[in-house]
Amino acid sequence: MNASPSRKLIIAIDGPAGVGKSTIASRLARKLGYANLESGAMYRALALKAIEKDISFDDEAALDMLAKNSRIELEPTSTGNRVLLDGRDVSQRVRETDVTAGASRVSVHPKVRVWMVARQQEMGAGGGVVMEGRDIGTKVFPRADVKIFLDADPVVREQRRLQQRSLSGTAAEATAAELRERDYRDRTRAVSPLTAAADALTIDSTALSEDEVLHRVEEMVQQKLLALG
Ligand code: C5P
Repeated sequence: MNASPSRKLIIAIDGPAGVGKSTIASRLARKLGYANLESGAMYRALALKAIEKDISFDDEAALDMLAKNSRIELEPTSTGNRVLLDGRDVSQRVRETDVTAGASRVSVHPKVRVWMVARQQEMGAGGGVVMEGRDIGTKVFPRADVKIFLDADPVVREQRRLQQRSLSGTAAEATAAELRERDYRDRTRAVSPLTAAADALTIDSTALSEDEVLHRVEEMVQQKLLALG
């Protein structure tokens, strides 16, 4: 698929944890020659800094200050985003369980979200980006050129996540429980809960392969590029 260089689209991919957003977003970005930005990694980086500074995930004012005094950068690579927190590479650390749970707790605070959304808007403003997260189509880029909401049966999402990490036994149970808890919090929070934008195309990937999902997304992008001429 060849994207016209003059048409640098903004593509928003939202959906719950374990649905395969990152894989689809990074494969699509590679095909288009776009940057893939994982917005969740920014919430993870802030949660990590809160852990390191011993700041409570419930203290909105302190988290707001912390964000304002932080430099969180995402560098797209062929295997996902490199995450820099104040210049330090924390890409591996932010994937660990304590940070994952913390990310979903710091993300409930409106002030934190305002800061994050502003940074994400700056990062994607020039177009040529595939940004994935929970509120990209609803809040970060409500006028994105293409909006996808990826969903899948919760049991299937859990299985995929466990397979991806080769987990079994107690570790698998803990990860599944964490996924359910995070899902619930993301969907029920007061500000920017996880929900499909009214004009998003929802793709239920429960019974689809990764290639099939990617194909559908590519079709949408192609249609958009044709419509733009
Ligand atoms: O996508 P990822 O699993 O890395 O996101 C970690 C957490 O960050 C999510 O569970 C969610 O609470 C939060 N998040 C968010 N808005 C986004 C991206 C992530 O609230 N756009």
